[in-house]
Amino acid sequence: MGPTEPGIGKKVPIEGMTENTFYSGGANYWATQEASDNGMLGGLGHLSEIEIQNSEQFLKSVLRLTDPPGTSRVIDCGAGIGRITKNLLQRYFKVVDLVDQDPKFIDRAKENLKDIAQVGELYCSGLQLFTPNPKTYDVIWCQWVLCYMTDDDLIQFLQRCSSALLPNGVMIIKENTTRGNAPDVDESDSSVTRSFNGFLNIFKAANMKVLQYVKQKNFPRDLYPVWIFAVKPITSASD
Ligand SMILES: C[S@@+](CC[C@H](N)C(=O)[O-])C[C@H]1O[C@@H](n2cnc3c(N)ncnc32)[C@H](O)[C@@H]1O
Repeated sequence: MGPTEPGIGKKVPIEGMTENTFYSGGANYWATQEASDNGMLGGLGHLSEIEIQNSEQFLKSVLRLTDPPGTSRVIDCGAGIGRITKNLLQRYFKVVDLVDQDPKFIDRAKENLKDIAQVGELYCSGLQLFTPNPKTYDVIWCQWVLCYMTDDDLIQFLQRCSSALLPNGVMIIKENTTRGNAPDVDESDSSVTRSFNGFLNIFKAANMKVLQYVKQKNFPRDLYPVWIFAVKPITSASD
């Protein structure tokens, strides 16, 4: 796969930045954002309910696959204040772990989720540095966070996640995508919005296959299209 293929771009997507400044740019941006649904959704907190409804339909369809993942443990990656854990994951999984790099959001997630018995570990770490425990998770949920990782780090993170999945485990990835094939970079929050094909290339590079995908419905047309993917590691030649 060549370096110019969509989604497999430069090591650091923003010209002139080092990896350090790319990651500190993202962390500094989130340090200034409100610990609320509105903060998590860039001022579009009113879309939370419809977004969760679509995710729930997708999760149900994944749990109905021929060899479905179990429901013993999930991890919410880039969990922020625990919006997805609270409104969705805790209703389907016996244990929900969370990881986010921002300590203020982790503190708010603890507060928001204090009455939810299913909540397990809360990790404060950048995903580019995080290794989920091996053979632990039925589902690894990543939403609106992979745009803050370089392609190389994302591929390596997906590989570490592959090792963290239980048999039949899947990753569910929900991210903005560009309409064409080129990624969009945003210097204001150090993010890279990848194309749909860019994600497919990333999954291929991480040796993962796509089981299912669907586009978020009923979102305003002026927003980036949001796609949800279910992916799993390729373990045999017949996969
Ligand atoms: C758009 S919010 C989404 C939060 C949550 N997934 C949701 O949908 O409500 C992005 C979150 O990703 C976190 N984040 C950004 N870069 C990260 C990184 N490199 N590693 C871990 N978390 C990161 C931010 O702190 C923030 O909580």
